[in-house]
Amino acid sequence: MNKIAFFGLGYVGLTTAVAMASRGFKVIGYDVDKAKVASLKAGKLTVYEPGLSETFKEALKNIRFTSEANEAVNEADTIFITVGTPSKPDGSIDLSNVIFASRQIGEGLDGYKLVVVKSTVLPGTTMGVVRREIESASNKKCCRDFGLAVNPEFLREGSALEDTLKPDRIIIGEADKASGDQLEELWRGFLNGYEVPIVRTTPENAELIKYANNAFLAIKVTFANMFARLCMKIPGADIDTVMKGIGLDKRIGPYFLNAGMSWGGSCFPKDLKAIVKFAQEKGVRLGLVEEALRINSKGPEDVVQIAESLIGSLKAKVVCVLGVTFKPDTDDVRESPSFYLVDELKARGAKVKCYDPKASAFPSGCEINKSPKECINGSDLVILVTEWNEFKYLNPEDFLSMKSPVVIDTRRILNKRAFEEKGIKLVQLGVGV
Ligand code: UDX
Repeated sequence: MNKIAFFGLGYVGLTTAVAMASRGFKVIGYDVDKAKVASLKAGKLTVYEPGLSETFKEALKNIRFTSEANEAVNEADTIFITVGTPSKPDGSIDLSNVIFASRQIGEGLDGYKLVVVKSTVLPGTTMGVVRREIESASNKKCCRDFGLAVNPEFLREGSALEDTLKPDRIIIGEADKASGDQLEELWRGFLNGYEVPIVRTTPENAELIKYANNAFLAIKVTFANMFARLCMKIPGADIDTVMKGIGLDKRIGPYFLNAGMSWGGSCFPKDLKAIVKFAQEKGVRLGLVEEALRINSKGPEDVVQIAESLIGSLKAKVVCVLGVTFKPDTDDVRESPSFYLVDELKARGAKVKCYDPKASAFPSGCEINKSPKECINGSDLVILVTEWNEFKYLNPEDFLSMKSPVVIDTRRILNKRAFEEKGIKLVQLGVGV
């Protein structure tokens, strides 16, 4: 039976580690962050994901954690690199974590092992810098003394466990056939009869598939967001019906057309910027991707303009922002559009209050409230940004404690008619007025 090591215990590493342990694989998790390892050793999860803590408890007997890189390498047959690949200030990819992990793995190599790059890396990285670092640190040769493969991850935060247990497909970019065979066998064992396409290809294709995938999805959401702005200018139009109408075309499909202020998160912004920069260096302009980034960065400003059209100058106005995570069912606030919105509001002199049920952090300079009602109370304007389930159950009565109730619902989850019956002005992003 395979023993699997994970280098890097963020969303991807930890979720995949727990999922594999829950299916009976022996797993060892390593992270440079000693506090994270200590917390996991004590049985405390370091990320919030629906269902993960239950599965973690069930899987405890098959998983252990260490701060010793060597130990993780020595015990495993397959080593996944699942460290972060953040953006540098110029948008290019910061590979320092991947390079460090590759070197640590190289230093620990004590026999044939398969190294799998699951971190998102640009085409050429695995067969380039990753291979070189492992080879030079180990004095061993790729495809003879160790295997190497790329295995991009497509899990979404908020449904990370579900996406890992039931993936749409498995992409394997292999340095040689033996590496691909070992990884395919591992995944087939994990999937245990659950049928999904397994694509075996070059490492470069596998690396590019991840970027093209995220770019396509981000463009799809941007498309919905763009038409939502147009719908607002057309009385009788609403974005959800328009997207439902086009989503029924099989060539388009119904998913990823839910319009909002902007998209965010740990992947789309950084991956789109990285692939744009990478392409530029190759003399190719990914104009469509660049435009999606530009349109997206304007989202908070669009909402502020709607706010001003409703209540005039925002100077000294109290604005309640509901939801600061980049999407529901996660505590993650990385590249969260709400943070940019709060900045825009503050820049116009507004006093901002925020509520979120799970956020790991809040924008600076805002008042943090413990409940939606506390946040709404006494405000001049409410902006609902993240479509947390609990917000769907807010009643018009909950807004009567506002100074003069005006609400912007960027996700169209509140009942417009019910609000209007109580004399509350409710503007829905994407609905014509
Ligand atoms: C994304 C990819 O989906 C995943 O495959 C990849 O591995 C990592 O990046 P994630 O960032 O967790 O996953 O979130 P996702 O559910 O894709 O949402 C990204 C952003 O788009 C969020 O801000 C979300 O609110 C927004 N979004 C998504 C919409 O506004 N509307 C939609 O219809 C879908």
